[in-house]
Amino acid sequence: MLRENSKTVKDHYPEHNLVLVGFMGTGKSTVGKILAKRMNRTFIDMDRKIEEREKTSISTIFAEHGEARFRGLESALALELAVTTKNVIACGGGIVLNEANLIALGMAGVVICLSAEPTAILERVSRNNNRPLLGGDDKFEKIKTLFEARRELYAAINHQVATDGHTLEEVSDLVETLYCNVAGK
Ligand code: S3P
Repeated sequence: MLRENSKTVKDHYPEHNLVLVGFMGTGKSTVGKILAKRMNRTFIDMDRKIEEREKTSISTIFAEHGEARFRGLESALALELAVTTKNVIACGGGIVLNEANLIALGMAGVVICLSAEPTAILERVSRNNNRPLLGGDDKFEKIKTLFEARRELYAAINHQVATDGHTLEEVSDLVETLYCNVAGK
């Protein structure tokens, strides 16, 4: 249900974390920031938190220590967040690769998957070059290959919001409504 005035803020939200997952470029961080502000919650971007702690970029972690090191940091953070409340959490796109991450994040939160088609993803991720898995030439091929490899992992998430054709405000409204319906039960 879309509201005419998306600035309307409820008095009370459930305490569960709102956890956003989805492929790179589906709007997790932007929507997460909008909703954290609207719901008066703390916004946690897992990638940024890892960068802060490691004092270096995700790209550098991948380049110097390998993807496995990054996945370890990501899983450790997911476990920490399993015992928190009242956060809006934007996960990195690869969080679904380890089922234990989703179990941990789902313990204290409602996990919602944002989806988008590869063409829309290409448009969104082309704006910057900070995604090591999409580095080099032919980003679109890389997106399509990863997208296919992960399709079922994203599809297995119970709660889904399709973002194509919607503005970020509309996506935020859809996510908020879904979160309240699920967490309010
Ligand atoms: C990754 C997605 C990135 C980041 C890392 C790996 C992935 O996050 O965690 O580059 O495996 O899909 P975003 O989804 O925020 O781009």
